[in-house]
Amino acid sequence: MKKIDGVIFDLDGVLVTTDDCHYLGWKRMADEENIYFDRAINERLRGVSRMDSLAIILEKATRSYTEDEKQRMAARKNAYYVELIGKLTANDILPGAMDVLNLLKKRGIKIAIGSSSKNTPIILKQIGLENAFDAVADGNQITHSKPNPEVFLLAAKLLKLNPAECLVVEDADAGVEAALNGGMSVLGVGSASKNQRATYHGESLATVDFNSILG
Ligand code: BG6
Ligand code: MG
Repeated sequence: MKKIDGVIFDLDGVLVTTDDCHYLGWKRMADEENIYFDRAINERLRGVSRMDSLAIILEKATRSYTEDEKQRMAARKNAYYVELIGKLTANDILPGAMDVLNLLKKRGIKIAIGSSSKNTPIILKQIGLENAFDAVADGNQITHSKPNPEVFLLAAKLLKLNPAECLVVEDADAGVEAALNGGMSVLGVGSASKNQRATYHGESLATVDFNSILG
């Protein structure tokens, strides 16, 4: 077993319940445009950047959209989403997350965020975790969305660790691939709990035995 010195957490769907807010924001926009969108399609958006998510949604569109229209649709979805995440509190932190963060801190293991979301700073502030991490890498600092490993490599660099010393925690298949592409081990939880490509698996942070993963 490799020694793990840092754990990089995806945010949406791993630490906080924002994944449903993303769905509701896209659903409102898609309904207004008469574009078919459902929860199965939404699963494909996990871990994927805003504009790449829109491209997936537009696969069901019956006409093509100009670049300007696409930018405005993405901005509209984001406004709906920001309205929803404005209601988040520490109660929206997912079960087990705080216990895991405290355990890692106690064991001297560095912790970081590795999220595709440009709303990461807002979300961390809403849930009171803006000062909880040793490093935050998010959608504002990267150009390539998961499954590209850019956000996780940046998080490892900010932690001053080699990728092989880091464990990523992900709920998205795209995020599992991103971690593997970056040379990191990965724990799949939630929607990625059955992803056979993941190194470790758990239903949620509440059920994972981190001590056994860390050795
Ligand atoms: C990821 C979510 O964390 O962030 C995706 O899983 C989302 O669903 C992506 O599209 C980008 O988020 P934002 O907040 O920058 O639109
Ligand atoms: Mg996620």
